[in-house]
Order: sequence, then structure tokens, then C-alpha cells
Amino acid sequence: GAPVEVDISSLNPGEMKTVEWRGKPVWIIKRTPEMVASLKKTDGKVADADSKRNPDEFTPEYARNEWRSRKPEILVAVGICTHLGCSPSSKFTPGPQPSLPDDWEGGFLCPCHGSTFDMAGRVFKNKPAPDNLQVPRHMFLSDTKLIIG
Ligand code: FES
Repeated sequence: GAPVEVDISSLNPGEMKTVEWRGKPVWIIKRTPEMVASLKKTDGKVADADSKRNPDEFTPEYARNEWRSRKPEILVAVGICTHLGCSPSSKFTPGPQPSLPDDWEGGFLCPCHGSTFDMAGRVFKNKPAPDNLQVPRHMFLSDTKLIIG
């Protein structure tokens, strides 16, 4: 499939935009400083904090860091659960929420079998999803334009 160019100039901190790439939904999330800071807290709770599992398929080299992206504030991830392909929903708001731990820092919940992911798309420990959400190859053409694929 062809690469997709995305204008993120209208994306405010805490907002997410979905674009289609190769028939898949790709999320672009502009993380707030609090969301970026939450990753330190989830480091010890996620199954593959350094994205070492299947890195060629799921995490390009430049995203094998704590925030899984080129820029700490921008997450680009395929919105498809790595378990059986359901679409996780965003549960950005930290704090107690139905079916999430009390110390929830924000992230994503897959409704099918309960896999949870943090604000970098890293899967929490002991969940059915075997891998972190896929980070597609991407690069920034400018501060407000990026290209996926
Ligand atoms: Fe997401 Fe099973 S498809 S947990």
C-alpha cells in the first residue's frame, strides 16, 4: 500500500486521530506531559517494556524506547489488538474505571479478552495479547506533517 501523509496541525494534547493505512486503523495520539510521565510508572507493569519481542514486526528501531515513538509526545500505533485482532478502545483518563485497575494511568483496553495497553501501546503483564501494539514505519516531514508507511 501507498504511504499516507497526515496533517497533525489540529491535534491538541490529549487528542487522537485515526487514519487508514493498508486497510488498518492507525492512531496518532498527541500525548500530554502527564501521559508521557505515566510511562515511567507503567514500565514495571508491562510485559515488554523495551519492545524486544518481535521488534521487526512491531517496533521499528527508532521506536524501541520507553515512549515507542520518534517524539515523546506523538504516538503512532496500529489500533488492532495483537491477540486476535479486535479494536481496543481508548481509556485515556487515569484513575478508577470499570474493568481497569484502580491505579490505571491511561491507555487502551481491548474489549474482547481484556488485554490492556499503556499510553505507549505496551501490553500489560499476564494479558492474552502477545505483543505491544504495532508501531508502523513513519517519519516526520515537518512538525505538523508525518508520513506513515
Ligand atoms: Fe484483544 Fe483478545 S483480541 S484481548
